[in-house]
Amino acid sequence: MPEYPSVNFIGNKEKLADWIGQFVPNSIHTIFDAFSGGASISYYFKRCGFQVFSNDILKINYCLSKALIENKSVKLDLQDIEHILSGEPIKGFMYNNFSNVYYFPEECKELDLYHRNILAISSPFKRALAFSVMRRAMIRKMPYSRFNIPWSKIVQLRDEDFSYKHYKRKRAYHNQSVKYHFLKEVKAYNEAVFDNGKNNKAYNLDIFSAIDKVKADLIYLDPPYAGTMNDYFGFYGMLDSWILGKERTRFRNNFTDKTEIAALLDKLFKKSSKYKYLLLSYNNVSFPARQDIYDLLSRHFRDVSFKEKSHIYKVTGVQNKQKNIEYLFIAKN
Ligand SMILES: C[S@@+](CC[C@H](N)C(=O)[O-])C[C@H]1O[C@@H](n2cnc3c(N)ncnc32)[C@H](O)[C@@H]1O
Repeated sequence: MPEYPSVNFIGNKEKLADWIGQFVPNSIHTIFDAFSGGASISYYFKRCGFQVFSNDILKINYCLSKALIENKSVKLDLQDIEHILSGEPIKGFMYNNFSNVYYFPEECKELDLYHRNILAISSPFKRALAFSVMRRAMIRKMPYSRFNIPWSKIVQLRDEDFSYKHYKRKRAYHNQSVKYHFLKEVKAYNEAVFDNGKNNKAYNLDIFSAIDKVKADLIYLDPPYAGTMNDYFGFYGMLDSWILGKERTRFRNNFTDKTEIAALLDKLFKKSSKYKYLLLSYNNVSFPARQDIYDLLSRHFRDVSFKEKSHIYKVTGVQNKQKNIEYLFIAKN
């Protein structure tokens, strides 16, 4: 069986996939993973043999689904890898905008070169796969694996002596080159590409447009959990800016605002009621509370129940683990 590679996506459900999978009814053939993030659940469903539709508002998450879910067979061969990594670093968008913001200037120049080389590849699947592997390389170099960290903190945590003294970890991998990480990860990403015999598809839309577009037997919803660390634009928006070559602006409907979340979920459930089945992930430290979600779902679905399971989220590193109760709501029409 092909293996899901190391993606390292905050709030991923990789370890919950088997548990969630148990509650998919037998009659189902097509599944819509509407907030697909790092694509761990889409990948699980693809492996189970379902036809999978994945969607996420972030371009980088779309690349992951395009490369690992929609893609049946296209991999990066030696020639592609050589092409992506060839040439001299150049001054481009990253260098001009993000030097000493996320990376050192020389690293930004390296990223500008790889970006130019990836865009010159004609196959959309190869481009998506290359951006996905680059994402992993870039994340490996970022303390806490997210991009909403001030530069002073990044510099401090990339200081191996400082890190060892204070955290007993040198974090030397933050200082390995992008090229080093790319070469280390590319094999696993290539090997993760497979065909499950279905025409799976990746979308890059706001949730409400995606629901209008995608037909499926079941919708799986794993939105950002309001009230927890859930600012996905802050975590990964920089990667979209890098891919797009221009600064990406914050998206709407981001499920971060506690005052809007009940209305937003109500709208989401109403729109989702066109699907026969809905599965929704949420947890006990988020807002609204379990009973409120249950009530909201019951407005739009005939039959609503939930399951729970304890789950450890790794928040910012091994030293910071949070044990929660994970909920899975199951709704049927
Ligand atoms: C909790 S994560 C999903 C994690 C995913 N299930 C996994 O296992 O990796 C939530 C995702 O919702 C996406 N998102 C947030 N607002 C969105 C919107 N309005 N439309 C579509 N996707 C959105 C974020 O980009 C993020 O990737």
